[in-house]
Amino acid sequence: MDRYEQVTELARRRGIMWPAFELYGGAAGFYDYGPLGALLKRKIEDTWRRFFVIGEGFAEIEAPTIGVEGIFAASGHLSGFSDPLTECQECKEVYRADHLIKHIVEVPDALSNEEIGRIIHENDIFCPECGGELSEIYEFNLMFKTTIGPGSTHPGYLRPETAQGMFINFPRLLRYFRDALPFGAVQIGKSYRNEISPRQGVIRLREFTQAEAEVFIDPRDKTHPRFPEVSDLTLRLYSQEAQERGVIDEMTLEDAVKRGIIAHQMLAYYVARTYQFLMAVGVAPERMRFRQHKADEMAHYAADCWDAEVLLERLGWIEIVGIADRTDYDLKSHMTHSQAKLTVFVPYAEPKLRQRLVVKPDMKALGPRFKGKAKAVAEALKSLDEEGLKGDVICVVVEGETVTIERDLVSFEVVEEAIRGEEVIPHVIEPSFGIDRIIYTVLDHSYSQEEVDGESRAVLRFIPAMAPLQVAVLPLMDRPELAQPAEALLQAFRREGIMAEYDTSGSIGRRYRRNDEVGTPFCVTIDYETIEEATVTIRDRDSMGQVRVPKESVVEIVSALVKGEVEFLDAGRPEEST
Ligand code: ATP
Ligand code: GLY
Repeated sequence: MDRYEQVTELARRRGIMWPAFELYGGAAGFYDYGPLGALLKRKIEDTWRRFFVIGEGFAEIEAPTIGVEGIFAASGHLSGFSDPLTECQECKEVYRADHLIKHIVEVPDALSNEEIGRIIHENDIFCPECGGELSEIYEFNLMFKTTIGPGSTHPGYLRPETAQGMFINFPRLLRYFRDALPFGAVQIGKSYRNEISPRQGVIRLREFTQAEAEVFIDPRDKTHPRFPEVSDLTLRLYSQEAQERGVIDEMTLEDAVKRGIIAHQMLAYYVARTYQFLMAVGVAPERMRFRQHKADEMAHYAADCWDAEVLLERLGWIEIVGIADRTDYDLKSHMTHSQAKLTVFVPYAEPKLRQRLVVKPDMKALGPRFKGKAKAVAEALKSLDEEGLKGDVICVVVEGETVTIERDLVSFEVVEEAIRGEEVIPHVIEPSFGIDRIIYTVLDHSYSQEEVDGESRAVLRFIPAMAPLQVAVLPLMDRPELAQPAEALLQAFRREGIMAEYDTSGSIGRRYRRNDEVGTPFCVTIDYETIEEATVTIRDRDSMGQVRVPKESVVEIVSALVKGEVEFLDAGRPEEST
């Protein structure tokens, strides 16, 4: 069994996650999270909220997962959200054509269908299932279509990204943020894509969870006031140019922005926060890199895009987060399609003074000449710009009629006026996280199979705060005199908000192994010394070391251990970490 099989087998067996609809034969691309998986997912989502909602002050919203057609006509998903598909002429199995050449071309997304077809042909690639000939490549739209209400007149689509919820709510969000840029809005929720033959567990699902932030900014200022907090961070960057060389660069974000490798501070800042978030949930930094999209790989809305990619043993480098500069693509397009005003008035730091030529119509001359229309003619003259005032005869349109006026009936004046600001369409920086891919990565990167005293143990080395279960309470034997203080301790943990489990079945060694396997960072054992000396043993998952501590302080100690406030030192009592 390779690592992927070991991890997915463990996840299935121990209630983390498994393919959905098992009772009815299943359907590719759908997964259930079980009791431990749902806990893990919630923790990862809450950590994301800590970073982006609390840490950045972004507003979380919740929009419907079904959208009306207009949204996706404007967003470009109706016309452009498709993948290249090829079908086996023999067994009729369908494949994503670009995936069939992944071992030949590092980034097949950048190729046209003709190029993919040529590579398939030149490399003698046939149906992976039956060896049959593959069809011409054609595009397949990935959105799930439905109808809203009975009849077929109101089509609806399951959203392929949560992002559109933020775009179409822009006017309300702008008002919420008191009409000022920059601001961010986020959503954590389900997205749907009718992926072609998904075969990689939760890496490619047809229903998956995204956590997306849309940060609306002034297009003229892509600096970030908090960039100095992250500018020293050294990351593994695989820019377009580095991909040509085939070498990942390591550099600070300061350098990356200075050298134009990352286009601006705004993108670099969210690359940094993405890295910090992924580290906080347990993605291994040495198996992570940020890869820039190639120019022809970019999504239809993006001007620049960096993916956080992780290395997974079986699957290679996989995108788990995309950080894109979506420019004004979406707002502009929604403005055209909906006719709504999606601009913001951005005041200048200092009003700009502008000289303007204004017309002073001579009413004494215009009155007798145009009579009842004279006022309208005068107004039309006033609204002319410099260009319209050129020439000996000036033309204006009044009540649908073109009127000509000799230049000597008009006098001019240069006035100075203060311009306070201008209407702009904001640009959008979007960090888009795939929660399911992050969950699999955390499992994969935390997993190890180890030999201990001639026995093997499987361990999920979760960061303690991320572990679904934080402590297991284990009476040494299943006897009432031990069960009773163990039960009391279990309740004390629960009162403290610590996720604790009680386990009496099997030898203590087996119970430790069982907890290692689901990543429980600490086990507390109740034995006869607990009764005689009021002490319990804390056993640490990673070092397998044990310390004996007073029973009355164990909840406080475990709580501090889980939060990472103290380190586990198995030579003695846990001590304050420095
Ligand atoms: P891929 O090229 O692997 O299909 P993508 O470029 O289409 O991914 P995006 O459209 O950028 O992905 O989506 C943003 C994030 O949503 C991705 O980084 C990924 O984590 C997640 N995601 C996208 N599609 C899926 C899917 N089918 N199953 C699970 N997660 C997904
Ligand atoms: N919102 C980015 C994507 O899902 O494609």
